[in-house]
Amino acid sequence: MTLTDHDVAIDVRPLSGWTGAEIHGVDLSQPLDDHTVAEIRQALLQWKVVFFRDQHIDHAQQIRFGGQFGDVTPGHPYEGDAAPPGFPQIHTVSPKAYDERYGRRYQKQFGVNGPGWHADVTPLINPPSHSILRAESVPAFGGDTQFTNVAAAYLGLPEPLRAFIDGLRAEHRFGASYDADRSNERIGEWVRTKPLASIHPVVRVHPESGERVIYVNPGFTTRILDLDPRQSRHILDLLFEQIDRPEYTVRFKWENGSVAFWDNRAALHLAPRDVEHLATDRVLHRITLVGDTPVGPDGAPSESIAGEPFLAAN
Ligand SMILES: [Fe+2]
Repeated sequence: MTLTDHDVAIDVRPLSGWTGAEIHGVDLSQPLDDHTVAEIRQALLQWKVVFFRDQHIDHAQQIRFGGQFGDVTPGHPYEGDAAPPGFPQIHTVSPKAYDERYGRRYQKQFGVNGPGWHADVTPLINPPSHSILRAESVPAFGGDTQFTNVAAAYLGLPEPLRAFIDGLRAEHRFGASYDADRSNERIGEWVRTKPLASIHPVVRVHPESGERVIYVNPGFTTRILDLDPRQSRHILDLLFEQIDRPEYTVRFKWENGSVAFWDNRAALHLAPRDVEHLATDRVLHRITLVGDTPVGPDGAPSESIAGEPFLAAN
């Protein structure tokens, strides 16, 4: 008897009660059959982020892997010129890359909203649906990334609160959390001359699962519309406290060759702050997939304030 593709199910190992699963039995360097793609999609829908180990793939293989799940965007709406030659889809995450990009020793900072939980580039009218981040070189300790399940966080709110936030909308703006100290850096110039901002529903209906998710994040959300500034601050703080609750999160320890693949419409992630004082570099490469325009429970879509839709890379 010969094995067909369908006899070889992938091995999905959940890492916490709500969030994250490791997937074994898949070689990302090879084209995947439809059944495997469907199983990975299903694991993503349930666990919001999936992880693969020992995948020593290059930029082209990472882009090809992502292309089996959607159209791959440029690396970043602002930072395309920082992509490695020949791979405009790649956004490299490393202190050294940031030094070159921002022109001085880069340190992550807490913004006005506290720790930087975020989904990638939500100021866009169509934020990327998924991100795929691969570790090329990571330190032996430090630098874990955390993820939180914002569908579970929504469900964990009392019903009257859910009903209240279902009708709200909020502004997301790139650079909202940058302080004046950084305003003369290149990123400050981009934020001033090429602003990116949108109005999104505070509760987004996930286009595949139909789940409602908390769709504000401390990294990019500036204010809730139709409330006065203090009311907006209180409601945002309440929601940021909710998405930060440990029971909704998972913490991923990177190794060289690890790959994280998450759904930006159902998970937020938090970049590590415990590596900046360490001498080791940490190099990861990200791609993102073209996303759709968010829709709220009332069926109304997001509205753009500034910036163009983020479409497939050429
Ligand atoms: Fe991110």
